[in-house]
Amino acid sequence: MTTPIEIRVPGDKSLSHRALIFAALANGKSRIRDILLSADVHSTASVLRALGVAVPVLGADIAIESKGARAFARPSSDLDCGNSGTTTRLLAGIAAGCAFRSRFIGDASLSRRPMRRVARPLIAMGARVEIEAGDGLPMVIHGGALRSISWTSETASAQIKSAILLAGIVGGVDVQITEPSRSRDHTERMLRALGARVEVDGTRVHVPATGALHPLDMSVPADPSSAAFLIALAVLSSQTSIVVPNVCLNPTRTGFFEVLRRMGASVQTVPGAEQGGEPTGSVEGAPSELRGVIVGEAEVPSMIDELPLLACVGACARGTTEIRGAAELRVKESDRIATVVSNLRAIGAVAEERIDGLVVAGTRGPLRGTVRTEGDHRIAMAFGVLGGLPGNEIEIDDPACVAVSYPAFWDDIGRATRAMAGR
Ligand code: S3P
Repeated sequence: MTTPIEIRVPGDKSLSHRALIFAALANGKSRIRDILLSADVHSTASVLRALGVAVPVLGADIAIESKGARAFARPSSDLDCGNSGTTTRLLAGIAAGCAFRSRFIGDASLSRRPMRRVARPLIAMGARVEIEAGDGLPMVIHGGALRSISWTSETASAQIKSAILLAGIVGGVDVQITEPSRSRDHTERMLRALGARVEVDGTRVHVPATGALHPLDMSVPADPSSAAFLIALAVLSSQTSIVVPNVCLNPTRTGFFEVLRRMGASVQTVPGAEQGGEPTGSVEGAPSELRGVIVGEAEVPSMIDELPLLACVGACARGTTEIRGAAELRVKESDRIATVVSNLRAIGAVAEERIDGLVVAGTRGPLRGTVRTEGDHRIAMAFGVLGGLPGNEIEIDDPACVAVSYPAFWDDIGRATRAMAGR
């Protein structure tokens, strides 16, 4: 057996946003190491700065001194969230509890994404929220005194859940939220690590009114959603294994690795130390013969960002792969059902849209053609993995859009494919 190629991937995006937000909400000096340096995380940093928080230039080891919710001040300009839904929705929760007006704006893709899902519970808590047109940005929030809430969400969304939890923290009120199924629980874990009481009962989360939060001291583990691309490459290759160390292995995030195993893939995890209340470990993927799989609604939240990649993996498996109960994909950075299916067809695979998912048939033939990303980072990277396999020739129209979550993606995929070919 040959030694696997080791590739480190950058810090987790969800944790990086939250680390900055919780450092701003805490009382005292927080320290964050290994934060993801990507466009989305820079959006959160710059919106926090516009809200009066002293966030330094982001780097490998940063300190943020804050005085809790009192740190937030009326912004003198619009809050530009760029391409980042997490920045917008989480910081909307904070703005709801602050007695001033905030106006959220974003790029063309973010401006089309649904915001009423987060506005509705914030309005029920007492904030005034105006959505200027349709359901997207710009969104104006007039925050102030909030009341407690018990909210049932129609969608399993960590962004909605986190907005409500953060509004409760800033407003000093008790909040409860029930979701149709469990979304990623980083906010709950970080709240607990900073001294708040968090009660979880199935899909219901309850956070009673809480006092000051302790400062955060955290090293951000690697992003499982970024590791997923390299693990998929190893599994689909016929050459050699890839190991990604120090990955966040929170069970609300690892659905993709489990589904790969169900397809017959060799994916091994070795547990490491806990970091900031998050389990971590290394993940190793090895060349495997894959069969098609059905992914149903219950599994969708734990792999929501990996579904485009799963469809691309399905194009190389024996039999068909079907994704069901994933209508949420239509309101991501692009309509990911339409974007994935049209691009799979453009490179020669057979795929079909469903209202809430898609079906793709596996093929052994080479995949060739041009992919139109619609500016969506995860589309570029999912098809980038297929492009890294010998025999395929795939051109990506906008490779630079990976900067949103994984700026070094093309370097890392290139390094992996060269190392594989050299063996
Ligand atoms: C995220 C939650 C998910 C995910 C997004 C990051 C988060 O969105 O798709 O990339 O950090 O809370 P939804 O809450 O809309 O499912």
